[in-house]
This record gives sequence, structure tokens and C-alpha cells, in this order.
Amino acid sequence: MRRMVRETTLSANDFIYPLFACEGENIKKPIGSMPDVYQMSVDVIVKECQDVESLGIPAVILFGIPAFKDAEGSEAYNEDGIVQKAVRAIKDNTKNLLVVTDVCMCEYTDHGHCGIIKGEDVDNDETLKHLALEAVTHAKAGADIVAPSDMMDGRVDVIREALDDNGFEDIPIMSYSVKYCSAFYGPFREAAESAPTFGDRKTYQMDPGNRLEGLKEAEQDVLEGADFIMVKPALPYLDLISDLKQNFDRPVVAYHVSGEYSMIIAADKMGWLDGHKAMMESLTSIKRAGADIIITYYAKEAAKAIKEG
Ligand code: PBG
Repeated sequence: MRRMVRETTLSANDFIYPLFACEGENIKKPIGSMPDVYQMSVDVIVKECQDVESLGIPAVILFGIPAFKDAEGSEAYNEDGIVQKAVRAIKDNTKNLLVVTDVCMCEYTDHGHCGIIKGEDVDNDETLKHLALEAVTHAKAGADIVAPSDMMDGRVDVIREALDDNGFEDIPIMSYSVKYCSAFYGPFREAAESAPTFGDRKTYQMDPGNRLEGLKEAEQDVLEGADFIMVKPALPYLDLISDLKQNFDRPVVAYHVSGEYSMIIAADKMGWLDGHKAMMESLTSIKRAGADIIITYYAKEAAKAIKEG
């Protein structure tokens, strides 16, 4: 009876699975702070994507660990960069898997910030040009959706225009609209080797105390042409997920981030809670709050559990 009247149920269709692509061959390098998550070379990622597809998960989101980093993050918009190569290989070797690409500079800059540095600050407008180039190279490689996560102002507008000018009118933008400056990204920065070498991201990511500002950020992105709007992290910001769902007619994406993932695994390892149940409860709560789509490192485990009933 409980099953019949349950208001919120999870489906594999809800998930996007994050993947970290690195150079080399036959590489599957564990990430210490994220058990069961790996940096993978393109050949390994392709196999992983076939597995993801067979579980009924509709999409992956790709992050790149480039061969080298420089101040401009130039590998981000190299047509033969790691993400561009991975996208081509995945699209060639899967049937119908959607490939979303994370568009940002932090994995590619030697200073680890999400944009171009001028003086001691990130130069918003200069960074926009680089982001537009990056998004276009992703689309050229075959990306189905581009997802800017840098938090520069005006980037959706600039990326939309660049995509349109290059014949990619049909490629949607999934914007990390409401992205907080969060301690919960800690493990990701090990995975993507993207921790800033100086300062922090407070000048471009949002203050956790602000809620109305999240609505403004989302509104700005929608006006600029965002097709999907995202809240990140997920569980600490369920109020924002609910706000976005109620206020905008765009699919709402929630990013269940690295720290949210690793926290559950750590507590499970200590024997303090049942990690699997805590995971299913977290994902259900994120959906109940209003998320249409959840980006989660748990996508495979959750999809398997849903299949098995
Ligand atoms: C930035 C980016 C970050 C994450 C996704 N994209 C890190 C950051 O802003 O520091 C975090 C994802 C996670 O923690 O799982 N390109």
C-alpha cells in the first residue's frame, strides 16, 4: 500500500553520472577521498559509459584532467583536449547516451581558479571569451548539452551566442545557476586536481547565507537562455531547489556533490549508518524538493537498486 501512495519515486531516468577523463591508456586511478570514483583514460571511460547506458541512466557529465595546465587554461578549448577526445569516443561507441560537458576553467588553469586572473582577481569579461571557445569545441566534438559551472556573470548569454554562430542552435545549456561557495566540493578538487593555489572562490560563487540571490541568479540565467537551471550542492540547499521549481518553467537539476557522496560512505565505513539507505533517502529528498534531474556519483548504485526493486 505504501508503494501505491508514495508521492516521490526515483527512476534511473533521473540521473546524470559524473566522469573524470584523463590522458593515457588503460588508466583507472582511484580517488582517495571518493571511493569507487576514478580518473579514467578515454578507452576505460568508453567501457564505463556502455555500462552506464545498460543501466538505463540517460546521461553522463564529463570533467577533464588535461595533459598540462597554464594560466589561460588553454587545454580547455583545444579541439584535441581530453574532454573533446572523450566526447568523440563516447558518442562513437554508445547507442543513445547523452553527453553533458562541464564548461569551466578551473581544471585547466595552473592557479586553479575558474577564470583568467588579472592582478589578484578573476577577470569576469575576459573569462567569458574563453568559456565560449570551450563550449564551442565541446559541441564540435559532439557534446549534447554544455554545462557552464564557472559562475561568471553573463556567461550563458555569451555561450548561447557562440553556439548559435557556429551552427549549434540545437545544443542546450545546462547552467550551474545557483552554485554556492561550498566546503562540500572538497573531494572533487582532489578528483579533478582543481583546488585553487591561492585565495578562494567567494568572489564568484554564492554565499551560503543567501536565498533570494539564488532566485536572481536563476532568473538572470533563464533570461540569457539557459535551458536547464541547476542548484549545487543539493541536500544543504533543498530550499533553493524548491524555489527554482516553483518559480521557473525550466527543468531543475540538482548536483549531489562529492562531499555529500563521500560523507555517506565515510559514515557507512565507520558503521554509523547504513550508507545505501542514506543514499536512497538523500536522492529521494532531492527529488521531493523539486529536482527533475540529479547529478550524482551514486547514479549506478541507485539505478541498480531501483532495477532490483
Ligand atoms: C567547477 C566544478 C566544481 C564541481 C563541479 N564543477 C568544483 C568547484 O567549483 O570548486 C564540484 C562537484 C563536486 O563537488 O562533486 N568546475
